[in-house]
Amino acid sequence: MANNSNISRHLPFGEKRDSRFYGQHILTVAQFDKTDLATIFEVAQEMRAMVQRVGSFDLLKGKVLTNLFYEPSTRTSSSFAAAMQRLGGSVIQINNVQFSSVSKGESLPDTIRTLEAYSDAIVLRHPERGSADTAARYARKPIINAGDGPGEHPTQALLDTFTIREELGQLDGLTVTLVGDLKHGRTVHSLVQLLALHNVRLNYVSPESLRLPAALQAQLAAAGVEQRQQPDLAAVLPETDVLYVTRVQKERFTDMAEYERIQGSYVINAALLRSARERMIVMHPLPRVGEIDMEVDNDPRAAYFRQMEYGMFVRMALLALVLGKA
Ligand code: ASP
Ligand code: CP
Repeated sequence: MANNSNISRHLPFGEKRDSRFYGQHILTVAQFDKTDLATIFEVAQEMRAMVQRVGSFDLLKGKVLTNLFYEPSTRTSSSFAAAMQRLGGSVIQINNVQFSSVSKGESLPDTIRTLEAYSDAIVLRHPERGSADTAARYARKPIINAGDGPGEHPTQALLDTFTIREELGQLDGLTVTLVGDLKHGRTVHSLVQLLALHNVRLNYVSPESLRLPAALQAQLAAAGVEQRQQPDLAAVLPETDVLYVTRVQKERFTDMAEYERIQGSYVINAALLRSARERMIVMHPLPRVGEIDMEVDNDPRAAYFRQMEYGMFVRMALLALVLGKA
């Protein structure tokens, strides 16, 4: 993992100086290699086993996490909070910045400086691309990017990759079909980069105006990833191992008429899935707003609710690693 921190702090008893993750920011998936993924997933497995066995335990007792969300969230915010609490730590929850001094005009750097005085790490979601990097430039405590506008959502991509591994056993050799808003979808931007560390084939199914950014396609091509634009979802379904469905990101549109025109372009339903493999999974970072019909929920291949559950274990692992206790 690239060293993205100049933190030098006093280490309380029990913290592991040698961890590659200790005190590091988590800003982009580009900072991870396959060894890092193996470490995170191994710790996430342990977290899962511990939660199943004892529910919660005091690994991060005395530690405080700040959840700072400038954009709405259900899963990321509450799974980080649950992760911290299950590890015996506590959480400062700022879910609605309009009731914080941000509404008085306080800048992001000053907000970060304030909250790091009270906590050991900060999870940040913000509407601007690059905001997590900005925060990290001013922070002495680890910043965890929970979504920077249409940029990245690295912890989601880690849990997505963990989900694929848990559900299908491995990533190598898989065909992953990504559907929907590949232009604005930050989960997609992060996920494809982690998939590129493996031997996968990628299919892109999206309206013309919502294609994966050309720069990202070029980066993946340079990494040797086989990528194909696919005009017809039904045609690629039979060869698909992972169907990754996304929401058209309404909040990134300035022209609502355009959003209305495009929204609803793809709907996954039981009839469509009849041509899919028996051993494949349907994923979605959620929330869904009509892209997957509820009739699919009881199909064993529907992995999106399990995916959401894996998220807490992965976030427990990240907190333990970053705070030097794993
Ligand atoms: N929850 C994910 C995100 O915040 C996906 C979405 O909102 O569509 O990026
Ligand atoms: N997947 C995800 O980030 O969900 P939330 O937007 O609800 O946090």
